[in-house]
Amino acid sequence: MTKNDVLQRLMEREGEFLSGEELARTLSLSRTAVWKAIAQLKREGFPIESVTRRGHRLLPGGDVLSAEGVRAFLRHTELRLEVYKCVSSTNTLLKARAEQGEEAGLALLACEQTAGRGRMGRSFYSPEDCGLYFSVLYRPDAPAADAVRITACAAVAVAETIEELSGKQAKIKWVNDVLVDGKKVCGILTEASLDCESGTVNYLIVGIGVNTAVPAGDYPEELRSIAGAAFGDATIPRLRCRLAAGILDRLTDFMADPDNEACFEAYRARSIVLGKPVTLHAPGREPVGATVLGLERDYALLVRLDDGTVKRVSSGEVSLRVR
Ligand code: BTN
Repeated sequence: MTKNDVLQRLMEREGEFLSGEELARTLSLSRTAVWKAIAQLKREGFPIESVTRRGHRLLPGGDVLSAEGVRAFLRHTELRLEVYKCVSSTNTLLKARAEQGEEAGLALLACEQTAGRGRMGRSFYSPEDCGLYFSVLYRPDAPAADAVRITACAAVAVAETIEELSGKQAKIKWVNDVLVDGKKVCGILTEASLDCESGTVNYLIVGIGVNTAVPAGDYPEELRSIAGAAFGDATIPRLRCRLAAGILDRLTDFMADPDNEACFEAYRARSIVLGKPVTLHAPGREPVGATVLGLERDYALLVRLDDGTVKRVSSGEVSLRVR
């Protein structure tokens, strides 16, 4: 597509002026086609400066989320990307597409969600341009039990990418909340459709929401003590494109081998619950106190309940208890 080719070229030479003539020649386009593509890109919000006799340049430092922008950093070129300004929920939309037979490898990305969904029936606050919200569809040839492994791998993919881009340390609260400076900066909602007869996965949707910046006017009151932004005030050029590509690449690598030893070690090294007193929360049950003894190879927690019983926990949530 002409517009994408022009954008790709401007991105490759970010900050440099490229004349309309040069763009037309190197992309085998007419000057009019280049001009139309530039006008369209500007309308979509790309920070492009056009100067007579010098040409057009993509101003450095912008953070427009676009499929071409993500693709510029993406290693797994087989992934298909669709980017939206505002959707209800990328998980909800992708689920509908999966039910209609969409093939694995589609990622839907959005700048804003109006009905973002979280774990345990909660909502996920997804304001405009303060975060990256996306879902990716996989159809792994895997047993249902692998869904927990995959959701844990997703947390590692997010934590490693945040660390690479920000230089900050990211931690993981079981099972897949990612924290920076003690605040939750990312939530992950993995939804699976299972084949009950074979006990395998039909499709798996991994939905990831990363808070990149604090919204103007701060988070809503009820989130202020728990939610944070992964990158604070840092200005990282094309942050959301890099972030999406880094996470998608890592996650897609892990999908090929959810039992990956390196991923398990990366998870364990970042876990904030190991050895700690916690409260276990399971839907429809009273919270119970416990101490975390260890992490099993399938990412289940080994805990000692306050009554002394030792058990494995592979679903629900934990919160840290302050002693
Ligand atoms: C949680 O922390 O409870 C999980 C939050 C998951 C949010 C992401 S944002 C992209 C995708 N679409 C959704 O509606 N939810 C997930």
